[in-house]
Amino acid sequence: MLLATPRLTLRRFRETDAPELAAYRSDPDVARYQGWSAPVTDEAARAWVHAFAAGSPTEPGWFQYAVELTAERRLIGDIGVHLHENRRQADLGFTLAPAWQGHGYATEAVRAVLADLFESHGLHRVSAECDARNARSAALLERVGFTREGLRRQGTWIKGEWTDDLLYGLLAADRA
Ligand SMILES: CC(C)(COP(=O)(O)OP(=O)(O)OC[C@H]1O[C@@H](n2cnc3c(N)ncnc32)[C@H](O)[C@@H]1OP(=O)(O)O)[C@@H](O)C(=O)NCCC(=O)NCCS
Repeated sequence: MLLATPRLTLRRFRETDAPELAAYRSDPDVARYQGWSAPVTDEAARAWVHAFAAGSPTEPGWFQYAVELTAERRLIGDIGVHLHENRRQADLGFTLAPAWQGHGYATEAVRAVLADLFESHGLHRVSAECDARNARSAALLERVGFTREGLRRQGTWIKGEWTDDLLYGLLAADRA
């Protein structure tokens, strides 16, 4: 286990997570504003899990936490953290399986990751961005304390369209 909250365990991915990961990442609503397209093949999920399991939360690059509901030992989502080379900044991403949305689990998991980054690892800034139409993602970021810093107009070409990106930031000083 890497991090624990009252209801959740944040741990490294393992090979056996691939079917569950494929199932929730294959939901069209989950994939809508993300870099992949639904459905996800078992082969793609196995490759992801393999890459996720090889990462390190304390080394520069992306690390993907598996978010598990502790009581049921069940994978319900994932949180990605991209630690910059300077180790003082990071980018954040998150996904919850549809059946587990609306219960505050993403809020709980993201708060734990932020506490670890800022309090345990001394980060200066965490950034996040989302499609401007992704209201649940924006609400989550604002709920955990991020400041909306801007709107990048038609800044991303994805799935056949130009999309607007909401830009968010959270500084260590904001949490003081
Ligand atoms: C973004 C995402 C993780 C947000 O999930 P979420 O379920 O809205 O967020 P939480 O788990 O924190 O739950 C918050 C909701 O639970 C409710 N809730 C219930 N119990 C709660 C508790 N104990 N604590 C906090 N909120 C609670 C809140 O009121 C809120 O409900 P509302 O949306 O009706 O206001 C989810 O929509 C998702 O995975 N989307 C698809 C992937 C995606 O687009 N990711 C972002 C890419 S940038």
